[in-house]
Amino acid sequence: MTHRQHQEAADQTTPAQQAAQADARPNARKVFMRTYGCQMNVYDSERMNDVLGTEGFSATENMEDADLVILNTCHIREKASEKVYSELGRIRKIKEERALAGKDMMVGVAGCVAQAEGDEISRRAPIVDLVFGPQSYHRLPELLAKASGGTKVVETEFDIDAKFEHLSERAARPVLKRPPAAFLTVQEGCDKFCTFCVVPYTRGAEVSRSVEQIVTEAEQMAASGVREITLLGQNVNAWHGQGANGETWGLGRLLRRLAEIDGLDRLRYTTSHPRDMADDLIEAHRDLAELMPYLHLPVQSGSDRILAAMNRKHTRDDYFRLVAQIREAAPGIALSCDFIVGFPGETDQDFQDTMDLIRRVEFGSAFSFKYSQRPGTPGATMSDQVPEDVKSARLQELQELIASQQTAFNASRQGMTCNVLIERKGRHAGQVVGKSPWLQPVAIDGPEDLIGTIQAVEITRIAANSLFGRLIAGHHDFIGSTADGHQGGGI
Ligand code: 5AD
Ligand code: SF4
Repeated sequence: MTHRQHQEAADQTTPAQQAAQADARPNARKVFMRTYGCQMNVYDSERMNDVLGTEGFSATENMEDADLVILNTCHIREKASEKVYSELGRIRKIKEERALAGKDMMVGVAGCVAQAEGDEISRRAPIVDLVFGPQSYHRLPELLAKASGGTKVVETEFDIDAKFEHLSERAARPVLKRPPAAFLTVQEGCDKFCTFCVVPYTRGAEVSRSVEQIVTEAEQMAASGVREITLLGQNVNAWHGQGANGETWGLGRLLRRLAEIDGLDRLRYTTSHPRDMADDLIEAHRDLAELMPYLHLPVQSGSDRILAAMNRKHTRDDYFRLVAQIREAAPGIALSCDFIVGFPGETDQDFQDTMDLIRRVEFGSAFSFKYSQRPGTPGATMSDQVPEDVKSARLQELQELIASQQTAFNASRQGMTCNVLIERKGRHAGQVVGKSPWLQPVAIDGPEDLIGTIQAVEITRIAANSLFGRLIAGHHDFIGSTADGHQGGGI
């Protein structure tokens, strides 16, 4: 992996949590939430926070103070469940200490590990009071009430429509402050069944939310200060819905509608599948100033043989054609990708085909992984598993190439002026950090009250994973049409 990794199954707090300001409501019950994995989990955690906010909870960043601990888990990597069990071991000690002081603590496991393991979790970790899958969190109040009556709750039904119906209103009083850049899930699940992937089993079949729900939620988010929305879906570009006149809309049309919302200045979407990159979506990159010039478009492998074994349903040439069409519509767009090395049967030649694809496409960044056998997926039982040392060597070679492309892409921003949405305080006093149109973090000397504004910034220095810049438009919100990186930089 070459940079800040949204799909990384590492411990992470949500951006909202980082920006969290513990609610000052006295006597409020406190919730500690830890989010693992992808952006969809980050979104789910925010929505759980919304639900808990209406239930009178406030956030805490100290587990010791929490009346409720929720682990929102990810199942995409190997040993995901084991990591959850070892975290639960640590939580058990804290729960016991609180019990000695006469205080209760409820423990919930949410997300994809919960979905996959079900009641096995409370069997192996008796401190767990509730286990609930990604489609059940709108029922949290009811589940909490049940669990506090002493019943072990396990809720892993797939009823995604019900979830979204119940969550269509963003809470007026969220537990956490909304960040200026936020996620909005528009689609969940996947019908593609790539042979390495657990998602179709943990998140279920592909479902799209309705146009109306999405627009309403985006309007509420914009009204509460969100300036940038990233639309989320496991196969976000397969999203489709019905417009008011009964026509079927694709993601391009939806983006055009969202771009009309006042105060919403930036749009992104992730993750896309090459098969679902419709012309209308590509044209939206050409036409919409609000649609940021960044696209995450995983190819996984550059070998047709391996792509077929992965059941990707596209070839390397399909990918090249698509990239050419996208670059014609949006010449300066930053392309990002996912790669898996060491899929069963991958030869040196197959791997070199992947390296060749990377050299030809030139990515701005990419995430890369050693293939790991996920129980229940077809890949796990394929013969010709690749030895671990071969996978490691290939991963290193691939990551070196990606790192050099990322460095070159970042270096090409030197001296440019672009829009930066300021999102948070920097590591150093007097510094704030935001995102460039191409999703690079940009650190700037400036006061905290710039957070939530869009500023024109000159890029003055390039570091390995981030950029440094200088404000050029004073402290006023800057929404210029020339410095947003639209149309290949358009700068
Ligand atoms: N082994 C390695 N990488 C995987 N991914 C998904 N499943 C596996 C697996 N079994 C990677 C893919 C996907 C990203 C989210 O995680 O590259 O695009
Ligand atoms: Fe997994 Fe493939 Fe679906 Fe992506 S498209 S979620 S990799 S099965």
